[in-house]
Amino acid sequence: MKLLEPLKINQITLPNRVLVPAMVTRLSGEDGFVNDAVIDRYAGFARGGVGLIVVEACAVHSSKSGPLLRLSDDKFIPGHRKLTDRVHGISDSKIVPQIIHFMKVARSGWRQTVDMLDTDQIEDIISDFGRAAIRAREAGYDGVEIHSAHAYTLMSFLSRHNHRKDEYSGKTLEGRLRLFGRVMAEIRKSVGNDFAVGVRFLAEEVVRDGYTIEDAKPIALRMAQLGVDYISLSVGGKFEDAVPREGQPLYPYTGYSGDRCMPGDWYPAMPNAHLPAAIKEYINGHGFDVPVVSVGKISDPQDAEMLLQTGKADIIGMARQLLADPDWTNKVAAGRSDDIVKCIYCNVCKQLDGAFKEVNCFLWPKGMNQAPADDPDGINPVWGDAAASLTGEVDERGRVILNWQAPSNDATRIYDIYRAEEDGKVTCIEAVKKPRYIDPLALGGLKYTYHVRAVAPDGRSTPPSNSVSLTPDIPSYEKLENA
Ligand SMILES: Cc1cc2nc3c(=O)[nH]c(=O)nc-3n(C[C@H](O)[C@H](O)[C@H](O)COP(=O)(O)O)c2cc1C
Ligand code: SF4
Repeated sequence: MKLLEPLKINQITLPNRVLVPAMVTRLSGEDGFVNDAVIDRYAGFARGGVGLIVVEACAVHSSKSGPLLRLSDDKFIPGHRKLTDRVHGISDSKIVPQIIHFMKVARSGWRQTVDMLDTDQIEDIISDFGRAAIRAREAGYDGVEIHSAHAYTLMSFLSRHNHRKDEYSGKTLEGRLRLFGRVMAEIRKSVGNDFAVGVRFLAEEVVRDGYTIEDAKPIALRMAQLGVDYISLSVGGKFEDAVPREGQPLYPYTGYSGDRCMPGDWYPAMPNAHLPAAIKEYINGHGFDVPVVSVGKISDPQDAEMLLQTGKADIIGMARQLLADPDWTNKVAAGRSDDIVKCIYCNVCKQLDGAFKEVNCFLWPKGMNQAPADDPDGINPVWGDAAASLTGEVDERGRVILNWQAPSNDATRIYDIYRAEEDGKVTCIEAVKKPRYIDPLALGGLKYTYHVRAVAPDGRSTPPSNSVSLTPDIPSYEKLENA
């Protein structure tokens, strides 16, 4: 599989093309130090064999925030050194921190925008990025990733919502690119050319009057010309459409652009994959082969392989799927894809992040703040003598109600629900904790076939249950008698 082939980035070789994009864990305190829980989180990804781990956003400056890692002072280096030593001691996974600068946001709803920054503050931002990159190198990281995405400072300069009128003017593409260019030059001056420097930015802003792929293409080209070693694309996640919450600072993933950034279960798989594909084609057409990372609701190994094989991406980023199951890569390599704990895109993790609470996964056993490790001696749940005895019926509202028997041993953590429409592709549509599921999304007149699997905490599962097929009636559109 191309997915499992190594890839050289600057001086480092990723053992495969699987990348964990930055994901805030909220496991550190507000002091910003790396602690054991943070180390355990990233050790899990190394154990699972991913190619590149991008550590959650680490602030380059000391501005106040909720729990967030920091690289804003030398005092943070020893903690990060412990983290990189642990990861490097586990596997060939490479690790880089995402380095971020953010502007001020108040609980009152006020927020700083790029036009409020004076030139001295801009010079500070540039030197803060340079110093953070030096600290990352001293801490043993394999490179850094510049956070130039979502609602944060560097992206806000790239944005069409940049209202500055000086050399960083939002009126020209070159003006919008100027701060990124200066930060990149400063980082190269600080850490040299032999240190991997990746960037994350937005393929589309997905807000009113925000930029689209048409601006993202030349932005990516300039980043390639400036010598970035990989380009990771995200979309949305902006303040402009964020929904205010009483007494809380604005959280940039609450509007439609937040939905597009972390697409939920009602989105199709890979809803954003055409964007990195277009950017890759564009920069390749201009003679640059900087690896492009595709991210956004990718979880199926065959989908990931297809994106690579068809030239739509060079690296596959999976945030929530790897949170749910950090052992994904090793399971795929071992031909055990059936044992993957499948992310159901319920966004419980996103809600925890937004509430500044420790980020964990709905699918993990209650009370755990790390994913259960793949257990070589693990026990598969076993259906009892009556197998699962899956039954289905359609209720008066057109919903399909499924019931089944729990397995005979107690290894089960969750049940995955699979559905095929009209004998088409079978998809895992949901995971539930009790042996009952109600499907509210069946359309009358179509045939649906269901089966379930009982899944242990490490992803081992029963064989598929018996299948049931149902065709709900097409409802009458006459006025209801008791309406
Ligand atoms: C809990 C959580 C925290 C995140 N934190 C960051 C972050 O620190 N930096 C970043 O660039 N993206 C962050 N993201 C966005 C992810 O990196 C990723 O782009 C997004 O979840 C879509 O990928 P997925 O569908 O594979 O989860 C976060 C996402 C989640 C769910
Ligand atoms: S909490 Fe939900 S969306 Fe987040 S990783 Fe777990 S299953 Fe996926």
